[in-house]
Amino acid sequence: MESDSHLGFDSIATKRVEVKGPVNSVSLPIYTSSTFFVDSAKHGATLCQQEKTEKGTSPWLYTRWANPTNDAVERLITKLEVGKANLPGAATFVTSSGMSAISSSLLALLKSGDHAVFTTNIYGGTHEFATDILPKLGIQVTMVSPLDIANYEAAILPNTKLLYGETPANPTMLLTDLSALGALGRRHNITTVVDATFGSVYNTRPLEHQIDIVVHSATKYYGGHSDLIAGCITVANEQLHHQIGHYIRLLGCLASPHNAFLLQRGIKTLHLRMQRHNDNALKIAQFLENHPKVERVFYPGLESHPQHELAKRQMQPGYSGMIAFEVKGGAEAGRKVIESVELITLAVSLGGVESLIEQASTMTHTMVDKEIREKSGITDGLLRFSVGCEDPQDLINDLTQALKKV
Ligand SMILES: Cc1ncc(COP(=O)(O)O)c(C=O)c1O
Repeated sequence: MESDSHLGFDSIATKRVEVKGPVNSVSLPIYTSSTFFVDSAKHGATLCQQEKTEKGTSPWLYTRWANPTNDAVERLITKLEVGKANLPGAATFVTSSGMSAISSSLLALLKSGDHAVFTTNIYGGTHEFATDILPKLGIQVTMVSPLDIANYEAAILPNTKLLYGETPANPTMLLTDLSALGALGRRHNITTVVDATFGSVYNTRPLEHQIDIVVHSATKYYGGHSDLIAGCITVANEQLHHQIGHYIRLLGCLASPHNAFLLQRGIKTLHLRMQRHNDNALKIAQFLENHPKVERVFYPGLESHPQHELAKRQMQPGYSGMIAFEVKGGAEAGRKVIESVELITLAVSLGGVESLIEQASTMTHTMVDKEIREKSGITDGLLRFSVGCEDPQDLINDLTQALKKV
């Protein structure tokens, strides 16, 4: 062991600890280091110019740029998102939240004078970013219904640079036809971005349908345990990786290595959790559809869903754990249900192993104007139910007793 006896206490306490040789760790190590030492001035200069490292040298410089723990998760997510597509240049950024994944991508892709087409059926935060922040930067935004891709096409202007979709949409569970949107983008040479949080990568992989960029709130199904905030962006090619990476680094969007670790731990059981979410939600959607106190149920796995055929084509092997439904009696009746559940928890967010329920108009989508809310199907009474991995009969029993109280 090297001797530090010539150093004072303070120097020994703060000196870099050397870890030599490989550590045969089965679990992903958390590299908490904000910075990484370089082998030489030349090595440092090369890394600062963001060029590829020479053979045998470390590629790490500073964690706001890249970190070995995050890198491992990013490579893993890329593999999952690419699926059957042939995209050798695909890559992922794991970010500090779903909103940072969305906002940094939009800021990287759009500039003053550009125009972007969004769907009316999107997460409230994305809606607010598109209708409040983008116009302040001189970016023109048009909102269209996702029900027909012709609506996107009709909105395209000579300066349109981005087509944005979310499928299934939060909270209405409307779908966007990914192949049609991807083809439209390719035809007009416009970048397409899709938020696939609600379906999860297990059920929906937009990159397989010629979509250029997929974003997720990894806080949800990717993490799966309601114990982290994170996001991810997977891009289809190197040019987009370079373009978005520039903004990620300068806006400081990278996830902390601790959260990247938790994310990878969650991903280890993603397939198991999603099978259960898919199975439970289908059973519960069928139960709700047949309940006399329920007005309507929105779940892509039900034959009554207006886009069930599309769902069968682009959601495989299942339809996720997200359900929206309306109780007869509107907002007041809905409120009674969410306040009466016992096993299910009244809370925002979704995608965790525990079931969560909320009222979209007064909680997650309260910042969206009532007129736009109603246009996009978010009635005052609409409840959003994130079906967890509990015993489905227990969930049905809980809903039965809550609905009795209406
Ligand atoms: C579909 C969708 N996208 C993005 C977000 C934002 O994610 P985060 O809360 O991780 O920033 C959410 C949050 O609920 C969401 O539901």
